[in-house]
Amino acid sequence: MGIIKAVNLVFDYIRRDEQENVESVNRALDHVNIDIKEGDFVAILGHNGSGKSTFAKHVNGLLLPEEGTVWVSDMDTSKEQNLWHVRRAAGMVFQNPDNQIIGNVVEEDVGFGPENIGVPTEEIWERVDKSLEAVHMTAYRLKSPNKLSGGQKQRVAIAGVMAMRPGALCWTSPRPCWIQTGARRS
Ligand SMILES: Nc1ncnc2c1ncn2[C@@H]1O[C@H](COP(=O)(O)OP(=O)(O)OP(=O)(O)O)[C@@H](O)[C@H]1O
Ligand SMILES: [Mg+2]
Repeated sequence: MGIIKAVNLVFDYIRRDEQENVESVNRALDHVNIDIKEGDFVAILGHNGSGKSTFAKHVNGLLLPEEGTVWVSDMDTSKEQNLWHVRRAAGMVFQNPDNQIIGNVVEEDVGFGPENIGVPTEEIWERVDKSLEAVHMTAYRLKSPNKLSGGQKQRVAIAGVMAMRPGALCWTSPRPCWIQTGARRS
């Protein structure tokens, strides 16, 4: 089985009124099937509103299927006991990097994720160095993330997720949604 697999994935955004009656149903994912293997680099393309981000949110369990199943590293995302492991296995970079940037300085921001999962200090700095190099942002390591361009902020956010060494890295940009797995991570 691939590192990310979806079978007959259906997701509806349901709007309810104050009495919890269903007002409208917007089917964002309609029986999606995909099998992404370790080492794959996949771009999911589609027009605005076609469901790319909704799919990406299923890959790290932010949303759960209405119908069908999503597996990440053989773990069913809908099982609550898998959620923490699913999120470690599939790193997510959001469309708007401002939602994801925490540190006052770029290098601190990139080190935040590994620190949070208990990586030893010396290794955190090694990972920060490698991740910043991989996204060509080493020259900015002491700058404030707030003063970077949108694309540079997104690179820093990608570096921050890479530094957590997930098995798959999933990021959405205003157009495609990218998923990169295993082999090419730093
Ligand atoms: N929180 C939400 N509540 C209700 N409907 C939503 C919500 N988020 C997205 N949708 C709807 O679900 C559909 C898919 O949206 P999604 O954000 O997945 O698209 P996308 O392909 O990522 O678009 P974009 O290219 O603009 O980023 C759209 O019709 C959108 O209006
Ligand atoms: Mg999107």
